[in-house]
Amino acid sequence: MKKLFLFVFLALAPLSAQAAGGSECGELKECLHAPVNYQDKASLQNGAKLYLSYCLGCHSAKFMRYERMGADLGIDKELVQQYMNFTSDKSGDQITTNVSAKDQAKWFGAPPPDLTLETRLRSPNWVYSYLLNFYPDEARPYGVNNKVFKDVAMPHVLADLEQDLKPEEYKQAVGDIVNFMAYLAEPNRAQREHIGVFVLFFLFILLVPVWFLNREYWKDIK
Ligand code: HEC
Repeated sequence: MKKLFLFVFLALAPLSAQAAGGSECGELKECLHAPVNYQDKASLQNGAKLYLSYCLGCHSAKFMRYERMGADLGIDKELVQQYMNFTSDKSGDQITTNVSAKDQAKWFGAPPPDLTLETRLRSPNWVYSYLLNFYPDEARPYGVNNKVFKDVAMPHVLADLEQDLKPEEYKQAVGDIVNFMAYLAEPNRAQREHIGVFVLFFLFILLVPVWFLNREYWKDIK
């Protein structure tokens, strides 16, 4: 009985916490749904391009290497070196940023964390909601605040992009960045999903001989 009470309590605790303190996404009622698709190469490539141009200035992704990223996303090694790798001259190098964390902590008040595993620490939906919820706030040093991460020390770095694109296109672009970040956090996921389909297919076919064998073995006993 005690166990049952404990179980019910543990099951309901997150719900009551949510009712008391809003959702996981700060002031939003609930997080937005990020369009994550590990098989969508075009989206991942666009996300990589945007991440490397808009985020790498401050946030490294040091648990990934340029070469592996290119191979996984179907981008030529030469193209990666020429157009995407601004921080080292070797394609085998990790995706680091050239600015020191100490300087950044001094400039921004908080050092921008490495984002390789960010979508696993938070979630793709959290990161998507965060990027889409900057709003003007004159009281803050950069003139912006964030509904998901209150008083964040990060400026609204995608403001130019938001101005240049139509709202739908902008959402899509942010979705691509989050898709790429989800890939960074789980680079084997696409392959696992692919193999998973074959495994299920194999098990389904195996079921036929197993069913006949079972019938054969039990024939005399039943
Ligand atoms: C000008 C530097 C700068 C750039 C460029 C920048 N950020 Fe940030 N970012 C920061 C700082 C500083 C923080 C830490 C904020 C804090 O702790 O208050 C941060 C925090 C974050 C966080 C929250 C991390 C956490 O879980 O605490 C995410 C997610 C994030 N940035 C994503 C991005 C993405 C995606 C881009 C590119 C579109 C980007 N940032 C570009 C400076 C930057």
